[in-house]
Amino acid sequence: MNTFHRGRRLRSKKVLRDMVRESRLGREDLIQPYFVVESDPDFRKPIASMPGQFQLGLNQLMGDVGTAVDAGLSSLILFGIPVEKDPAGTQAYAENGIVQQAIRRIKDRWPELIVVADTCLCEYTSHGHCGLVSPEGVVRNDPTLALLARTAVAQAQAGADIIAPSDMMDGRVAAIREALDEKGFLDTPIMSYAVKYSSAFYGPFRDAAESAPKFGDRKTYQMDPANWREGLREAAADVEEGADILMVKPGLPYLDIIRLVRDNFDLPVAAYQVSGEYSQIKAAGQNGWIDETAVALESLIAFKRAGADLILSYFTQDLLKAGHI
Ligand code: PBG
Repeated sequence: MNTFHRGRRLRSKKVLRDMVRESRLGREDLIQPYFVVESDPDFRKPIASMPGQFQLGLNQLMGDVGTAVDAGLSSLILFGIPVEKDPAGTQAYAENGIVQQAIRRIKDRWPELIVVADTCLCEYTSHGHCGLVSPEGVVRNDPTLALLARTAVAQAQAGADIIAPSDMMDGRVAAIREALDEKGFLDTPIMSYAVKYSSAFYGPFRDAAESAPKFGDRKTYQMDPANWREGLREAAADVEEGADILMVKPGLPYLDIIRLVRDNFDLPVAAYQVSGEYSQIKAAGQNGWIDETAVALESLIAFKRAGADLILSYFTQDLLKAGHI
């Protein structure tokens, strides 16, 4: 009689399925990205390639964050869209840069909310690259480090809870750690975009943050999607340099990398479900081809199953508001 395994026994009732579920999604796992615009505090513009996401002036941002906090939001990450861009990305580290202003306002109103600052130059440079560019058009590594460190310090001074470098310059975690410590921010953690691929899935983000490179691409600093061993080297370097949380980005097409980082390091692991992943689900949902909410929740639980502790996702605020998490 007992010749085969009856896997259906544990699937027969909802409560039983709930009891044997191996991965769970909690609201404290999720981080909502926001795009904050400097030009006008009441600015509000839908991002065409990311339905449901907006470029927001400061007042609008406060309104949207407030609604999300009421729905249970515990953390967000900020990206800035400055009025002025220049070759050195000055507004990234200006004391009154737009992200620094936003951090101050948000932390003043919701001191318990965990505010993550994306630390990069690409939204602030006129050429759109994540570092300084030589006259020959080469993205220069070492001179960029001091600017990234200045950016991190300006963000920490404004009240950022977590610094998240996304530039992929070599040595930036060490440079940022040293600068933060020197200014007394010994307890400010670094969540490094440790394993960040050069991905076409970032397309909609570059519209949202107006940060597309004006020439060339990011392949000399972001990773080749074909590589996994290199991901281990990048993660190991960031651990060595003092990272506190390791991020893998993009998310769903890179679940193998999330699992790899989970199994090889003991730091918390974050996964970024990037703009293109979000927009694909949205577009298919809007066409009636898939159930958007069900697919969004399934993709988020996949991150947890793969070993991610934290997930950055544009679905966060809507899922919270609708009571799905
Ligand atoms: C900045 C940065 C990017 C993203 C996060 N931080 C863009 C890029 O590297 O080109 C992408 C996020 C997304 O696509 O949702 N360097």
